[in-house]
Amino acid sequence: MRVLSGIQPSGEIHIGNYFGMIKPMIDLQHTNDLFAFIASYHAMTSVKQRDILNNNIFDVAVNFLSLGLDPAKATFYRQHDVPQVLELYWILSTLTPMAMLQRGHSYKDKVAKGIKSNHGLFSYPVLMASDILLFDTHTVPVGKDQVQHIEMCRDMATTFNDRFGDILKIPQIKIEQNTQIVSGTDGAKMSKSYNNTIDMFGSPKQLKKQVMSIVSDSKGLNEPKEYENCNIYKLCELFMSESELVVLQDRYKSGKEGYGHFKQTLLQKIEEYFQEFRNKREYYLKNKDEVEQILQDGAKKAKQIATKKIETIRQAVGLD
Ligand code: ADP
Ligand code: TRP
Repeated sequence: MRVLSGIQPSGEIHIGNYFGMIKPMIDLQHTNDLFAFIASYHAMTSVKQRDILNNNIFDVAVNFLSLGLDPAKATFYRQHDVPQVLELYWILSTLTPMAMLQRGHSYKDKVAKGIKSNHGLFSYPVLMASDILLFDTHTVPVGKDQVQHIEMCRDMATTFNDRFGDILKIPQIKIEQNTQIVSGTDGAKMSKSYNNTIDMFGSPKQLKKQVMSIVSDSKGLNEPKEYENCNIYKLCELFMSESELVVLQDRYKSGKEGYGHFKQTLLQKIEEYFQEFRNKREYYLKNKDEVEQILQDGAKKAKQIATKKIETIRQAVGLD
C-alpha cells in the first residue's frame, strides 16, 4: 500500500518531533510502500533566505537517514527534484474554488497571527494535493492540523475525476490518534517556540543542560516523591521498559534520592537511546555525497512515476 508523507525542512529537531512524527513515519516503511519527501517548495512560503532553506533541506535529509529512514525500503526525495508536481498544482488550481481555500484553517490561523499573506501560503493546500495525487497515494498519515488539507485534496480529486474521468486516486486519511504529545522541560508541550526542548542531536553539554533544567517540585533529598505528574518521570516513560519504570517508581517513593538523581538516569537513557543515531549522523555529515546520491536515487524513482502520471493527466485535460 502506498503511503506518502511530506516533511517541512525546519532545521533543528527535538525529542517531541521524534516521538510525535519522525518515528511513526519511519516505522511505516516496514509494512508499506513509503514515499517520504522533503517539502522544499512548501517551506518557501515561510523561509526566504537562500542559505537557510538550502541547509535545512540537507539537515532534514541527514536527520531522517540517521534516525532510521532506510532508502532501500522507502522512496526519499526532495520535492523540487520532481517539478512535475507544479504542473499538476496548476491544473488543480484551475478547478479549486477560491472559497475552499479561504476556509483553510491553517491559512486563516497564520494570517490571524500576523504572518504576511502571500499566494503560496494561500494555495498551499493545492500543492499538497498535487504531492499526494501525483503518486496514486493510498493513505496519507497526518496530524490533526493537516486533516482539512487532505479533505480538500479529496475534493479536488473528485472534481477532477467528475470532469475528466477516473484518473486520480482518492486518498484515505490516517489520523495519528495515538501520537503522543511529548512534554517539554517545563511540562508544557515541547516546542522550539517555547524554548523547552530536549534536542537529541545537540552537543553533550547542551543535552545535559536541557535535562538538568527540567522543572520539578521542591521536595528535599530525603522526602518521598510522587512520580505521577513529574516531568522527569514523564520523559523517562519514553525511554524505559515497564520493569525499569517500576524500579524508578520505587526510587521516587523511597525518599533516598533527589530529582538530580532521576535527571541523571534520564540523561543516561537519552544518551543510550540516541547513541547509534548520533553515530550515523556523524557518518552522514562526513559523507554528504552519499546523502546526495540517496536523494537523487529517490528522485529518479519518484520522477519516473510522476512523469507517467502527468502524461495521463495532460491527455485527460487536453494538453497532449
Ligand atoms: P515545533 O512545535 O517545535 O515548532 P513543529 O511544528 O516543527 O515543531 O513540528 C513538526 C512535527 O513534529 C509535527 O508533525 C508535530 O506534530 C510534531 N511535534 C512537534 N512537537 C511535538 C510534541 N511536543 N509532541 C509530539 N509531536 C510533536
Ligand atoms: N503540510 C505538511 C506539514 O506542514 C507537509 C506536507 C506537504 C505534506 N505536502 C504533503 C504532508 C503531502 C502529507 C502529504 O506538515
